[in-house]
Amino acid sequence: MSSRVLTAVAWPYANGPRHIGHVSGFGVPSDVFSRYRRMIGDQVLMVSGTDEHGTPIQVQAEAEGLTARELADKYNRVIVEDLQGLGLNYDLFTRTTTSNHYEVTQQMFLALHKNGYVVPRTQMGAISPSTGRTLPDRYIEGTCPICDYPQARGDQCDNCGNQLDPADLINPKSRINGETPKFVETEHFFLDLPAFAESLGAWLQTRTDWRPNVLKFAANLVEDLKPRAITRDLDWGVPVPLDGWRDQPMKRLYVWFDAVIGYLSASVEWARRGPDPDAWKQWWCDPDAQSFYFMGKDNIVFHSVIWPALLLGQNGQGDHGGEPGAFGTLNLPSEIVSSEYLTMSGSKFSTSRGTVIYVGDFLREFGPDALRYFIAVAGPENQDTDFTWEEFVRRTNFELANEWGNLVNRAISMAHKNVGAIPKPTAPTEADVALLETSKAAFTTVGDLLARSRFKQAVTEAMRVVTSANRYLSEQEPWKRKDDPDRRDTILHTALQVVQDANTLLTPFLPHAAQKVHEALGGTGVWAAQPEIKEVDDLGDGPAYPVLTGDYSAEAARWESTPIEVGRPLRKPTPIIAKLQPELAETGPEWAPIQR
Ligand code: MF3
Ligand code: ZN
Repeated sequence: MSSRVLTAVAWPYANGPRHIGHVSGFGVPSDVFSRYRRMIGDQVLMVSGTDEHGTPIQVQAEAEGLTARELADKYNRVIVEDLQGLGLNYDLFTRTTTSNHYEVTQQMFLALHKNGYVVPRTQMGAISPSTGRTLPDRYIEGTCPICDYPQARGDQCDNCGNQLDPADLINPKSRINGETPKFVETEHFFLDLPAFAESLGAWLQTRTDWRPNVLKFAANLVEDLKPRAITRDLDWGVPVPLDGWRDQPMKRLYVWFDAVIGYLSASVEWARRGPDPDAWKQWWCDPDAQSFYFMGKDNIVFHSVIWPALLLGQNGQGDHGGEPGAFGTLNLPSEIVSSEYLTMSGSKFSTSRGTVIYVGDFLREFGPDALRYFIAVAGPENQDTDFTWEEFVRRTNFELANEWGNLVNRAISMAHKNVGAIPKPTAPTEADVALLETSKAAFTTVGDLLARSRFKQAVTEAMRVVTSANRYLSEQEPWKRKDDPDRRDTILHTALQVVQDANTLLTPFLPHAAQKVHEALGGTGVWAAQPEIKEVDDLGDGPAYPVLTGDYSAEAARWESTPIEVGRPLRKPTPIIAKLQPELAETGPEWAPIQR
């Protein structure tokens, strides 16, 4: 039975090009998962967009001499192009500066307000004594009151992961000019998180299949919930939709408040752009629909606690009760899938430390599938993982090219040369049957792993089939069977069938190569679909913008062994995986040289 699956992918900040650490957290895992779910016949809705509000954007805009809007426009486009290049099959990749997003965010706020879950409160806010301007939380640094980490930020401690209030920091300093901030009274809306302690706790108890680290982290947070400000003293963000607030130039909804609502607003936008503007409800309001959220680990708190709390509040399901808001009763996340960090030379990928490998540069030189494979097989799925060029060369040359590329090439070349078409098998031997069984069985093994987001194990199991097929060819030696063409053809047919099966198993990981292999086997049409960039009009009165979208229903790839067609003509194959220069392992590419 086909299920509805919402793939909710973390929204990258539009404050610069994304590096390979970013896409290893949210991008590649979510796409591998979604491609698999589409292949088994599920109805997937995969949404995201660029996160364009708040201080991260403002600060970078200032650095580049642009307005926040200009900066967001610039990097939104760069990111859209990179994600398309990687082949990420979004149904809609949009942005947070659209009229639709503003409307949905404000409706969500109003529902929470009406149900009594957001309340105004006066708090102490930091201002810079020298300029008189408000000092954003993340630009205040000090010692964490919980774990004593000396470089905690005003909004969050990266050491213990706790959410902080800048006024709690010990010895706070401005990161802009080092001065001690002055704290003055300011009014903000707060999300009454303690009112969700029970409902969140009860919900988390039902989430038994999450990765244990995420579940434990979330359960700890729920033990000690405090009200959290969801507005900021800023002029860049979604206005608070209430009289007395709406027109205040320096009061905006907090960037994280509007960003998580993006999952809903992007789904609504997707539906509004299609034949049925209510279609989003099938993924959000039907309790049988599933939702999977993909992100890096620094995002867990927002997805496992804050976003579920907003959903519960909108639904009227916290301690204050209430009525469902404009969206009806919304589903909570089925699963939070989070990755650890991809590091380089041991430090978290960061632009400020200069250890950065941009997705765009990477794609231009190496294409998408080598990166997708690397992230799947050697990415930071369960622990922080160091990216090295050596490992990248090794994985690409010895696994992708020598094992997979070589199998495809050998099997198709021999069949092309000897038969010119897919050969006809006769009596199979035990070895033939055993190999075919190995590849058939892998659909269950690999599929079960993919359904549980165990990408490393899944791709390893798929590659095991490739290794078995290579061993089979070496043992059966079809090239020595000139005097027994029937046996030769049976071996080649078996090998080609396993190439077809392995190609299907590898399609979620290597969709571009999979299309080529499909064609090399004489197939036509779209095997694995790819996203496209479209310029669209804003649905209100905002400016036009690019989105990533696609028609994925027409692709032929299905998660099953498809029998190859005897007699289908074959051409001489061209290599499907480019080998890398071994020197790359020692030097790195010109645009990211290894520093010694
Ligand atoms: N922009 C955030 C980051 O890069 C992620 C936002 S995810 C969403 O860390 F939930 F807010 F959408
Ligand atoms: Zn801390």
